Amino acid sequence: MGRNGKVVTMSHETPATDRPLTTALAEAAATAGHAPSVHNAQPWRWRVLPDALELRVVRDPRLAATDPEGRLVAYSCGAALHHARVALTAEGWTAVVERMPDPADGDLLARLTGLAHAQADPEAMRLVQCMQVRHTDRRPVSDEPVPTAALGEIASAVAAEGCQLQFLDRDNVLELAAVASRAASVEAEDSQLREELEYWTSRAGTGTGLPPEVLPTEAPRTTVPARDFGRPGTLPVGPGHDRTAVYGVLYGDEDEPDSWLRAGEALSAAWLTATRLGVSVVPLSGVVEVAGTRQTLRGLLAGLGYPYLVIRLGLADPAHAGPPHTPRLDVAQVVDTSAVRSSDA
Ligand SMILES: Cc1cc2nc3c(=O)[nH]c(=O)nc-3n(C[C@H](O)[C@H](O)[C@H](O)COP(=O)(O)O)c2cc1C
Repeated sequence: MGRNGKVVTMSHETPATDRPLTTALAEAAATAGHAPSVHNAQPWRWRVLPDALELRVVRDPRLAATDPEGRLVAYSCGAALHHARVALTAEGWTAVVERMPDPADGDLLARLTGLAHAQADPEAMRLVQCMQVRHTDRRPVSDEPVPTAALGEIASAVAAEGCQLQFLDRDNVLELAAVASRAASVEAEDSQLREELEYWTSRAGTGTGLPPEVLPTEAPRTTVPARDFGRPGTLPVGPGHDRTAVYGVLYGDEDEPDSWLRAGEALSAAWLTATRLGVSVVPLSGVVEVAGTRQTLRGLLAGLGYPYLVIRLGLADPAHAGPPHTPRLDVAQVVDTSAVRSSDA
């Protein structure tokens, strides 16, 4: 698959599946429901058309203080887009990806068109399996370091999506810790933001938000502070630390909505590759939510580009069970098949 998400069409290949295109599109959209999203808001909706799949953003007012520019929502939609692309590739379909295809309709984030048969891709199939097990584990990491080769593979997955991942050295991690604390203090004083957190952490039974089982019982004692969700959860944190964790900054050349979408695609690529390699990923988005600390983070990149998101990589504690899966919306709430329902979706 190319840097811009476009793929070479191989129209004479044997189809990997003889299921109709609209079924494959509907299934890819459903599979994309596994994607990570800010506060598990799942801010995307899919529309299945006879020969295309459209991705629209849903702008929830309960993210207005957390994400005033819509960058985290765009990252989340980009992650869902990457999931859908990989699901189609796994099923033996190639697609042309048009990002922000309609300048007059900024909520239409992507359209997948030009669908054609190709060989099913075994690597994509493995990543689809990873989608089903990938999750955010907010416990401290174990003492075992992440193998260097794994870090290289994760960075390559990011580069294949047109972004970069800069791993931070010890001094930079200490600076990141200071910046993350500053962002946390700014956010703690923002009452609208606290109300939004309260909303997203009390959504039991709705299929969105964060249930107590995925939030730590207490703040893990780490160098870089994790997000304070404003209430304790029920996930035991254990004695671990983040001494062996690797912190990376996902970054790119531009800081515009279409580059945020690509950042989300790159985040998904990194996270699925990490999952395949047994590496746990936790995004730390507070630092980029606050404009001042995002600017400081840009300084940490020393002119390399615009920071999109900080991620923590590490090996999860193998001795204790991790958190359960975070619930999701029903497929019918996010995938609209009404345009093809009379045919074969
Ligand atoms: C753009 C983005 C930002 C996120 N920021 C944070 C964060 O700051 N802290 C955190 O613990 N999790 C963060 N997450 C993880 C989400 O909370 C998580 O993906 C969501 O709750 C779904 O759970 P799952 O990843 O276990 O499927 C973020 C995810 C995305 C996509």
